[in-house]
Amino acid sequence: MSNLKNLIVITGGAGGIGQACARAFKGQPLIITDYSQEKVDETVNLLSKEGFDVSGISCDITSKKDIDSLINYVSEKGALKALIHTAGVSGTVKDLKRVYTIDLVATDLLVDAFYELAEKDSVVILLSSMMAHTVPPNKEYDDALINPQGPESFDIVSRYVNNDSDMMYNFAKRGVQLLTHKNADRWGKKGARIVSISPGVIETPMALKAAEEHPEKMEMIKRATPLKRNGQPEDIADVARFLASDAARFITSTDILVDGGVIQNIKRMGQKI
Ligand SMILES: NC(=O)c1ccc[n+]([C@@H]2O[C@H](COP(=O)([O-])OP(=O)(O)OC[C@H]3O[C@@H](n4cnc5c(N)ncnc54)[C@H](O)[C@@H]3O)[C@@H](O)[C@H]2O)c1
Repeated sequence: MSNLKNLIVITGGAGGIGQACARAFKGQPLIITDYSQEKVDETVNLLSKEGFDVSGISCDITSKKDIDSLINYVSEKGALKALIHTAGVSGTVKDLKRVYTIDLVATDLLVDAFYELAEKDSVVILLSSMMAHTVPPNKEYDDALINPQGPESFDIVSRYVNNDSDMMYNFAKRGVQLLTHKNADRWGKKGARIVSISPGVIETPMALKAAEEHPEKMEMIKRATPLKRNGQPEDIADVARFLASDAARFITSTDILVDGGVIQNIKRMGQKI
């Protein structure tokens, strides 16, 4: 085992928010992971040239085997400070089961696996979405969302989403928030914390793809945003850095909405997005 302490592990590390999160932790040892080894290598090379202490390994977060390899890789490098889980897909993926599996089931798998590495003051930061805040509480689907690996979970949630992958994304991201509440006691016993961040529209490859599909929706969202702009990946990364720091030591089992204020306006105006 090497001497590295305070490891920051970032899933989706080759993506827009993932890379920005990496840059927010300069000076701390980083482990980047993403779906393809090629993207991981590209990101590690880029960040190394910028002076970051970074290494990486590919991991398909839907594969238990890949997650086991990631856990071994991390544990050989040192002690876990934070897992920042940004890997995900949007509703532009027109396969409801794939959206549910990547965005929610894989989140559950990762949180369970990383529990073994958690120590006092470790933190898990999950990425939800402002869209999760449009899904109201409901006993039947919430029970399914909070147990995404349950055999009937996907079928139960599917009954509520009208065969719409954007809607499935919103439900899966509600599930991410429910997972933070579900795990807070268990992590708390170790002195560790678990939180989620709900971004609004953040200008990354994911959002730009969604914008191509729904340009009028994106324009409406910008108009309804009190701060009159879309978010930048750094807007999320700065919050992640705060949540991983000692300044956030009493924050767990909650969601931080980072959306320029837009979702409250949209709900108040009763607009469907
Ligand atoms: N960008 C936005 O406007 C926005 C808004 C709300 C929430 N979010 C959430 O923030 C997170 C990051 O989004 P982003 O905008 O940086 O997206 P992005 O597409 O730039 O990055 C996502 C990364 O996840 C990786 N990934 C996808 N499936 C994977 C898998 N099976 N295994 C491993 N890696 C996988 C992709 O390769 C990609 O690098 C996502 O969870 C997203 O849902 C983004």
